[in-house]
Amino acid sequence: MSELDGLKAIVSGGGSGIGLAAARMLAARGAEVACLDLDPSRVGAPLLGLRADVTDQESVDSAVDAAVARLGGGLDILVNNAGIGAQGTVEANPLDEWHRVLDVNVLGMVRLTRAALPHLRASRAAAIVNTCSIAATAGLPNRALYSASKGAVQSLTLAMAADHVGEGIRVNCVNPGTADTPWVGRLLAAADDPAAERAALEARQPMGRLVSADEVAAAIAYLAGPAAGSTTGTVLAVDGGMQGLRLRPRP
Ligand SMILES: NC(=O)c1ccc[n+]([C@@H]2O[C@H](COP(=O)([O-])OP(=O)(O)OC[C@H]3O[C@@H](n4cnc5c(N)ncnc54)[C@H](O)[C@@H]3O)[C@@H](O)[C@H]2O)c1
Repeated sequence: MSELDGLKAIVSGGGSGIGLAAARMLAARGAEVACLDLDPSRVGAPLLGLRADVTDQESVDSAVDAAVARLGGGLDILVNNAGIGAQGTVEANPLDEWHRVLDVNVLGMVRLTRAALPHLRASRAAAIVNTCSIAATAGLPNRALYSASKGAVQSLTLAMAADHVGEGIRVNCVNPGTADTPWVGRLLAAADDPAAERAALEARQPMGRLVSADEVAAAIAYLAGPAAGSTTGTVLAVDGGMQGLRLRPRP
């Protein structure tokens, strides 16, 4: 018997990168998993791919209904992972971009969590895992808007953990460092010198390499499962030591 046998999960942003890796890992551990994404075209069996836009409450509600029905009823695990990036100082991004990024990264979690809570309340092993970021806890240059969105995600995680602990719903988040996903691939492709940009990102992490999507997925799967049954309101860094370590410069 596998750790997550009999559990049903929804992963937002499950069409790519960390979300797809998390969905595959949850399924490998026995869960039945629906991936909600703007583009679920890369989601294959045994995962269920459903199109959903986390900025649209109707789209979220109908995708959650469809996921619960097609997974055979009930929901135990919600992974709030869909997110988009933004670069620049506090002056750089037009206000409509501020609204758009906060709408996806923060309100997207609000919409999906509201739709999922009635189902999670009926579960005996309910867990929410939010994908946050090192940007919530470290001041990174040129990430004002993105960092503000992830700071909100970390605080929301703690508040939700407090609100729902009495209902048996655990809420935690993972804080990845720079992870090797299609998102970072797009960032590198847009850089003047992609190899130099990649080397700079790798050097920023004490382990000297990017985090893998599977390493973040493993942290998500742990927090989502019964092995983390006494863990709520925590922030699990998966960042190659970027948040906690202060090393001397390499010789
Ligand atoms: N890659 C990194 O370095 C890194 C580091 C820290 C945190 N994160 C966080 O991890 C999460 C996943 O990032 P990733 O690197 O896997 O990116 P990704 O671009 O590979 O995947 C993100 C997915 O979210 C989906 N998505 C975007 N907007 C959506 C919307 N409105 N509705 C539904 N789906 C939507 C996209 O279609 C995509 O499939 C994000 O929340 C991101 O902020 C990433």
